[in-house]
Amino acid sequence: MAEMIDAGKIDDLAPGKIHKVQHGDLVIALVNIGGEFYAVDGVCGHAGGPLCRGEVIEDEKVITCPWHGWEYDLSSGECLMDPSLSQKTYAVHVDGGAVTITVE
Ligand code: FES
Repeated sequence: MAEMIDAGKIDDLAPGKIHKVQHGDLVIALVNIGGEFYAVDGVCGHAGGPLCRGEVIEDEKVITCPWHGWEYDLSSGECLMDPSLSQKTYAVHVDGGAVTITVE
C-alpha cells in the first residue's frame, strides 16, 4: 500500500546535495537538481554502500556511491556500470513548500 512520507521543506533541501530520508528501515537518497527532485534507494545495489554520502553530478543527473564509485541515473535508477543493479526510484511531490515521497 502506497504511503506518502514527509521529506522536509523545499527551502531546507539545497540543490546539488544528497538529503537522507529515513522511514523505518528504508533509507532514501533525495536530490534536488534545479528544483526537480529525485529519490532513489539510499543503499547501493553493489555492496550496500551509503549513497546518501556519495556525490551528485548535477548536469548528468547522476548519483555516485562513495564506496566504489558506481554511478546511478537519478531519473531511472539505472546503474551506469551494470543495469541489472538498478536502484529503486520513488515519486517525489512538491506541494507548496512541502516535499513528500511516495513509498510502497
Ligand atoms: S557499494 Fe556502492 S559502488 Fe560498491
